[in-house]
Amino acid sequence: MADRPRVFVARIIPDDGLRLLADATDADVWDGDLPPPRDELLRRVAGCDGVLTLLTDRVDDEFLDAVGPGLRVVSNYAVGFDNVDVPACTRRGIPVGNTPGVLTDTTADLAFALLMAAARRLPEGDRYVRDGRWKTWGPMLLMGPDVHGSTIGIVGFGRIGQAVARRAQGFGMTILYHDVNELPASVSAPLGATYVPLEELLARSDFVSLHVNLTPETRHLINDRTLALMKPTAVLVNTSRGPVVDQRALADALRGGRIWAAGLDVTDPEPIPMDDPLVGLDNCLIVPHIASASRATRGKMAEMAAANVLAGLRGERLPTPVNPEVYERA
Ligand code: DGY
Repeated sequence: MADRPRVFVARIIPDDGLRLLADATDADVWDGDLPPPRDELLRRVAGCDGVLTLLTDRVDDEFLDAVGPGLRVVSNYAVGFDNVDVPACTRRGIPVGNTPGVLTDTTADLAFALLMAAARRLPEGDRYVRDGRWKTWGPMLLMGPDVHGSTIGIVGFGRIGQAVARRAQGFGMTILYHDVNELPASVSAPLGATYVPLEELLARSDFVSLHVNLTPETRHLINDRTLALMKPTAVLVNTSRGPVVDQRALADALRGGRIWAAGLDVTDPEPIPMDDPLVGLDNCLIVPHIASASRATRGKMAEMAAANVLAGLRGERLPTPVNPEVYERA
């Protein structure tokens, strides 16, 4: 068994993937609830042939140096890969895999749940009941905006943004979208979605839902200036990446009534510090980065991440590479 490839798995993932790895490799699985501390991570990956990382593990030159020259694949257990320095991997000829597609609908479900919960003040209502404050039916109690028939602005109209649009259609919403490029009508027309510039989307939308990748261009896309364009009744939903929103600006806007509410699955940093101003705001709903957390989806992500590891170890093209250009170099 000594010649089985060595793989470091940075956390316990569903069995659907772990089993595949355990069957074919010498898998070293980090079994802590928290990510491996950096020193420990760098120590454990040394000499590995493959690594399965999470969005909590930074894969950069230091990490790649620590693994050493035998590394054949980096498989990230997420569709997002902003934790991975992809150009650094590409320079070294190392393919990087992610888990696109399987989490699209699950993530869109959570985006819509946040939208509904923030609009209809579900966390506040729940706290109100549990605090023993529910004395009677109140004609003015916990009112919020309607979701049905309103206007949603979807920023980033890829797989997940489009899946949110499908849900919005069911609520009779007017659907606006913005992306770097306008999509062909064959994509947007069946969704009833209209392309508009970002400024117009922010000004017209009752709900703004973010679905962009985190890049230098999208960091703090939502800031003092863009928040000021939104309606005072608007709800912001973020299931993309925390740094897409300038949290200080969001807290000011929520506190000052410049927008009405926010629903966040992601924050900057994660976890959000308990003394962050957003934590103290009733009109800000925050959940701990759980958009893809259905049992079925996390199982499929595990299978895909394992398939990427195993393909990389065999020297085959990864099923879902994020840097396919590595295959053009040989
Ligand atoms: C991802 O996959 O990028 C999500 O943020 C976690 O599932």
